[in-house]
Amino acid sequence: MPTLIVVGTQWGDEGKGKIVDVLTEKADFVVRFQGGNNAGHTLVINQKKFILHLIPSGIFHPHTICVIGNGVVVDPEVIIDEIEKLKKEGLDVSSQKLKISERAHVIMPYHKALDLARESRAKKNKIGTTGRGIGPCYEDKVGRRGFRLIDLTKPDFFREKLKVYLEEKNYYLKYLGAEPLDFKEIYEKYVEYGQYLKPYLTDTSHLLWEAIKQNKNVLFEGAQGTFLDIDYGTYPYVTSSNTLSGNACCGSGLGPTVMNKVLGIVKAYTTRVGEGPFPTELKDELGEYLREKGGEYGATTGRPRRCGWLDLVMVKTAIRLNGISCLAVTKLDVLSGLDTLKVCTAYKIGEKTIESFPSTLDELSQVTPVYEEFPGWKENLSHVKSYNDLPKAAKNYLKNIETYLGVPIKIVSTGPSRENCLFLEEKSLF
Ligand code: GDP
Ligand code: IMO
Ligand code: MG
Repeated sequence: MPTLIVVGTQWGDEGKGKIVDVLTEKADFVVRFQGGNNAGHTLVINQKKFILHLIPSGIFHPHTICVIGNGVVVDPEVIIDEIEKLKKEGLDVSSQKLKISERAHVIMPYHKALDLARESRAKKNKIGTTGRGIGPCYEDKVGRRGFRLIDLTKPDFFREKLKVYLEEKNYYLKYLGAEPLDFKEIYEKYVEYGQYLKPYLTDTSHLLWEAIKQNKNVLFEGAQGTFLDIDYGTYPYVTSSNTLSGNACCGSGLGPTVMNKVLGIVKAYTTRVGEGPFPTELKDELGEYLREKGGEYGATTGRPRRCGWLDLVMVKTAIRLNGISCLAVTKLDVLSGLDTLKVCTAYKIGEKTIESFPSTLDELSQVTPVYEEFPGWKENLSHVKSYNDLPKAAKNYLKNIETYLGVPIKIVSTGPSRENCLFLEEKSLF
């Protein structure tokens, strides 16, 4: 089956959006299957920067249908704003081009209010969420008291449920010291959103199944990253969905037998935004240097990203958790100019060597990274046109990563634009 799942192998912001945009050239469908507008996927097309939060990164290719699957949580206000902004850019964002699952859950105003109120009360125990209401929305989904997008198109049903749910949420908001929310205001606004979104809503599982039967190329665009996964991430410093490739099935309504390849995106160093453990973090000028050179500021919240050396213990674990079959290494250009590069290949706790990512914060707080060093290179990579033209030291860095991980690198990204993309073999990964 010509399917390909793209996932982040670190803590998000690996450059998934850019790679998905490039791969969409050969894709008939691009599907988001989890997360919400906590994601910020950046594309640079003809020197213009676009940040997508909900709409799949395939939207810039005229032949491709973009799908928001049932596993995504949708803030109607955000998606409508995104649709309108892209339309202003002259793009087709019609209901022929963009399909949204009627089963996708709705981020309500009280989800955002609860997220913010909890974070501000938690003070030093805060998660450092994006404040977009992601956690509270998934909680209500699992708690069987959520709204699905289709519910917004049924005003009577919506009104009755909203009355019940809002009473409970307002009680809780007051307890947290936040302002209660007004029923009428929410009801009227969300019914209007339902009318706007109605033409986009469909059974996307069915649509994708038909595409699969016709042998179409279907690309699944993961959001966040492996170590933000609710089960396998650095819990509780994670997001509230399964970010792993396995969730491409449940989050889009397709079975595992249609899934074929999994591409893991690896940033050539490591970043993290928000709180939580980070074994290879550089809290010195070098970390600062990577942040500035790599433009490491959150695409969603603008927060500075924490930076550190590439951690292959993480990436190797991500390969197992996602069944990754090939890799794309991004932001290699950011490392140009450093004399020596370090790569973490194991952790030590006391005398014990660990090669798999630990399960607990307690163990993570004790690990010391074991580094291998590689010579750096001075050359600017932005004009490099093929893998062979990369400096010898850059190829050596990549070869060592590949050997350690045992999975082939198929793409190397050397800048934010579409053009800064080197394919090691064929251009299609399907
Ligand atoms: P995503 O969330 O995984 O899609 O990644 P983000 O868009 O949040 O963050 C990646 C950032 O790096 C964006 O600003 C991209 O424009 C930029 N980017 C992507 N690939 C490269 C690359 O190879 N080199 C450089 N310098 N920037 C890149
Ligand atoms: P993309 O798709 C990086 C982080 C937040 C916080 C934690 C929980 O652009 O890679 P949440 O709002 O999800 O409840 O926040 O997860 N986080 C991300 N970090 N990239 C993302 O998405 C992220 N989405 C959430 O910073 O630490
Ligand atoms: Mg991002």
